[in-house]
Amino acid sequence: MKTSIVIATVIGGLTVAALAWLLLGRETTSPPSAALAHQVNVIVPTLTGQAAAGERVFERACVACHGSNAAGGPGGPPLVHRIYEPGHHADGAFVLAVRNGVRQHHWKFGSMPPVADVSPAETASIIAYVRTLQRANGIR
Ligand code: HEC
Repeated sequence: MKTSIVIATVIGGLTVAALAWLLLGRETTSPPSAALAHQVNVIVPTLTGQAAAGERVFERACVACHGSNAAGGPGGPPLVHRIYEPGHHADGAFVLAVRNGVRQHHWKFGSMPPVADVSPAETASIIAYVRTLQRANGIR
């Protein structure tokens, strides 16, 4: 009896693994760093005003690492994440990150370099954008 349960469990596990391989594994020919990617599901609310402007700057200057909708990408963590809620990383942390870069400390992506072509006003709009996304995803 017990043996058959074990066998069934093993077969079940192998089936799931094979399906996962079929569905996910074969298509990804991603760079090695993608293995580090830590992506979250982000609910995207309607963006207006400063947050909408911030999305455009984010798409230009941050998306390559932090991913679409700040959900995480191959070169950087999700910013829609409890670690970056206002109580842990206040708006000033975003200003400093853009201006000075960030030493690797929370993740294993390496350090973030300073982002030179983003003005203080653009940083403010990025903050409005990320905070809007965070709130829509229960991070406040
Ligand atoms: C070349 C990749 C890269 C780019 C481009 C990039 N980041 Fe980052 N960023 C990172 C990595 C990696 C970390 C995580 C460092 C750690 O904690 O280990 C990070 C961390 C951060 C943090 C957390 C700071 C802290 O105090 O821990 C903020 C805020 C941030 N990034 C904002 C931005 C914004 C805004 C942009 C665009 C203007 C941007 N990043 C562009 C890679 C990048």
